[in-house]
Amino acid sequence: MHTITASLKGRHLLSIRDLTTNDIKSIFSLSSDMEKIVRDRRCIDFLHGKIMATIFFQPSTRTRLSFESAMFRLGGSVLTFGNPEETRAGAKWGETLADTARVINSYADLVVIRHPKVGSANSFAQYADVPVINGGDGEGPGSEHPTQALIDLYTISKVFGQINGITMLIVGGMQIRVGHSLLLAIARFFNMRILIYCPDSLWLSKDEEAELRMLGLNYHRVESMEEALLEADVIYHNGWKESSPEPIPDEYRITAAKLTRVPKHAIVMDALPRTDEIAADVDATPYACYFEQASNGVPIRMALLAHLLG
Ligand code: CP
Repeated sequence: MHTITASLKGRHLLSIRDLTTNDIKSIFSLSSDMEKIVRDRRCIDFLHGKIMATIFFQPSTRTRLSFESAMFRLGGSVLTFGNPEETRAGAKWGETLADTARVINSYADLVVIRHPKVGSANSFAQYADVPVINGGDGEGPGSEHPTQALIDLYTISKVFGQINGITMLIVGGMQIRVGHSLLLAIARFFNMRILIYCPDSLWLSKDEEAELRMLGLNYHRVESMEEALLEADVIYHNGWKESSPEPIPDEYRITAAKLTRVPKHAIVMDALPRTDEIAADVDATPYACYFEQASNGVPIRMALLAHLLG
């Protein structure tokens, strides 16, 4: 098995900014090894005796369950919050994140948190003695979902054998947290060409745009999805709004009919869940990659847990 990187041990993962190029290489490399365990539906005892707590203040299917599956595959144990309203941290009792962190410190060796407020994972981590992973915090400027961005880039690297040199069209709202982590990751670690089709009302904040420019991200906004589709190796739908499902205007929807002229090797990605941004008829095309993307959540999160706790 790939060597565990000592430099990641005990650290928090609150933002994609917390990682270095070497960290990403180590995580991707270990994920390939982890894939074999997942494929064989095996469990190993690498993290036997370790406990992960998942405390999610917002709904999740993929992030929570794939972290939990990852921990079980590595032989560890899981404590889960379930519905926050059935805990003291819910709206009725309103126990603070600081007190919740101080308490969970002695119950678990690592915490994964999702919260509707931007910065909550950082606030929690200030009072945590154990590694904290941001499983998605809020919506809008400053929000992030770093582990989803790792999954997305890992998926691209698996499909194309590389990430540098790829042209990626991002469609949809740019206030979505994974979009922030993804652009920051690309700007910091990779040389990709990014086309973005997003309405002004859902565009990035001035500060976010300035940071991406300062980091040298090669991106530009496009006026039409149809033309940009012809140039894209990766067509990534970023969804529309984080807080609630909303119907998406037709011109931002991807359908099988719109994919008839895209490059043969192109893939369509979406962190999911989808509302109607990707029509069901795309599922049967060779371009659909979003379920493979979701399945990469387990090996990537196994690699992260192994690095942070191993
Ligand atoms: N992609 C993602 O974060 O999905 P969930 O909201 O189901 O965790």
